Amino acid sequence: MDEPLFITDLLLAAFATASAAVLGVRAARPAALGWPLRLTVALLAGRLVVAALLWREGWELVGHRLTLGLPVAVLPVAATVLAVARNRPAGTVGQVAAVGVFVSAYLAWVPQDPAAWPVTALVAAALLGVVALLAVGLRRWRAGGSRAARLPWQSALVVLALAASLGGLQQQNAAVAGDVAAAPEDWGGGPRTVAHHGVDVASLTGPEGDTPAARFTLVAAHRTIRLASGRQVDALTFNGTSPGPTLRVRQGELVEVTLVNTDVTEGVTVHWHGVDVPNAEDGVPGLTQDAVPPGGRHVYRFVPDRAGTFWYHTHRDSQRTVARGLFGAFLVDPPAATSAGDESGSGGDRTYDTTLFTHQWLTGDGTVAAFNDADAPTRQAVAAGREVLLRLVNSSEDPQRVQVGGVSFRVRAIDGNPVHEPGPLPGGTELLLAAGGRYDVGLTMPAGTVTVSMPAGEGDGGGVSLALSPSGQDAAQALGEGERFDPAAYGTPDDTAPPLADRSFDLVIDTGFGFADGGLTFANTVDGRMHPAVPTLMVALGDSVRVRIVNRGIFDHPMHLHGHRVRVVQRDGSPVTGSPWWTDTLNVAPGESYEVAFTADNPGIWMDHCHNFTHAAEGMVWHLAYAGVTTARQGTHGKHGSE
Ligand code: C2O
Ligand code: CU
Repeated sequence: MDEPLFITDLLLAAFATASAAVLGVRAARPAALGWPLRLTVALLAGRLVVAALLWREGWELVGHRLTLGLPVAVLPVAATVLAVARNRPAGTVGQVAAVGVFVSAYLAWVPQDPAAWPVTALVAAALLGVVALLAVGLRRWRAGGSRAARLPWQSALVVLALAASLGGLQQQNAAVAGDVAAAPEDWGGGPRTVAHHGVDVASLTGPEGDTPAARFTLVAAHRTIRLASGRQVDALTFNGTSPGPTLRVRQGELVEVTLVNTDVTEGVTVHWHGVDVPNAEDGVPGLTQDAVPPGGRHVYRFVPDRAGTFWYHTHRDSQRTVARGLFGAFLVDPPAATSAGDESGSGGDRTYDTTLFTHQWLTGDGTVAAFNDADAPTRQAVAAGREVLLRLVNSSEDPQRVQVGGVSFRVRAIDGNPVHEPGPLPGGTELLLAAGGRYDVGLTMPAGTVTVSMPAGEGDGGGVSLALSPSGQDAAQALGEGERFDPAAYGTPDDTAPPLADRSFDLVIDTGFGFADGGLTFANTVDGRMHPAVPTLMVALGDSVRVRIVNRGIFDHPMHLHGHRVRVVQRDGSPVTGSPWWTDTLNVAPGESYEVAFTADNPGIWMDHCHNFTHAAEGMVWHLAYAGVTTARQGTHGKHGSE
């Protein structure tokens, strides 16, 4: 939990610019330096303390500050202090110090591309050099600390430098507007191999001739729905409900889904979250298909290759349309021969199998938390001794905490990937679900009550809970603080090791000013950039790939790569000790760092984005592309890229 430290640093940097401005004005009269100098020193000392605290958690959180961002301010300010202490004229050095503090604050508020640090350092040094030269020159010209040597020219210079730098960022961003193929490329240190030439995304479809084993139709339409409490939601639904119908299929068998859009003016697609479908079936508007307009339809065909809990949702204007209801469960059962009577709630009765979406509904009362459409406590009868499978899916934009109490339980799968030898967890253990992520919770129904609860959302009085009891009459029990479940140390290792990397990529996430789709925003950056200027990660078919992700910003980011699952190798520098941890949606909290590995085994051009759709719409979107795969569909994805 480093966001308080990150926020403190941003604020100290901002305050320091104010005191440094006064410092600059008075620099020509060292006698008057008193409090502005002391205040600037105090604020910088605060920033150094914050940096030291962060350093204890990892160099990658503060390396950029300690090597450039802070020295650019601390060194000239220290020189000013020395000069004043020795009663020397501090005019020039004081002015350099003032500008240094500005530059330092700029570097804190406008994230830079870490790979471009030599340029950043050079520009910063040049700016301070120009200030020094001008100050010396002006003093010689008008002997003695003249007015001319004071703030106005300095601030003009600073403003000019800032404008030039922002202009550069804007250019960089606008140059690739609306064109995936024009984004800069990052080959991750591997060769620029072209495995197969000129394959268009549109040709990477599911099997075309075969007869599907399962056929569904999803009809998207506006509808007012009523939550359990009676609150009404102006919703977008699939087949009249939200969550939409649960699509239940078998691993290895062809599925065909026809999407029909009745009246959703934004357009609709269906993305099969976590299912590694062929690229053209992935449901990304502007990249793998065009959004289906009202009156239109689109057919998806694919063969799910892994059993587990997945979900589907629209991928057009997701920030609004998923929140309003265009999502549902996609459950893949193991092949018939191997599924040992573990039938669904709809079929056999050995297992009580239920899917709970943790959702945040937009109602007249504000945002309301719910399990599916239940925004009030609910109860269910489950006979003692029966197996229970709770499939928790987070369809909201934020990480959600869910507690399971009254019985010990196991996390059987994460994001549809079975955990190897999951051990029992004490009742009350808290699960943190990444936005878009899933946990399969398994337990044996006791004679008493099992409580599944999610803390109250904003504007929600009662909190949300589901109480399971043999009679179905028991109320949910209050669960005290539970320990947080840690997927990095759960279950046991199996004998697979992640392969060595053919390519590796570094993604530094930060929060600050930048340009997304050509416009200036305060949002989240990836390597100092936002969509569409974030470099495309380039791979070749068959590569093993590593990606390191560091979050230096102030928000949680659920990282979601389409078309692949990734295996977490390290968190905060420590290897995963339990079961192999496979995920498709990895929450990266402020101050956390991860290394993940995956195999490039699904050719195409894939979205890679933050599953907080607001962050994505604000620019946290980039792509993973296979050498030789192209797309003819460009510039059609509208304001928010392929979002
Ligand atoms: Cu669940 Cu690109 O999304
Ligand atoms: Cu995010």
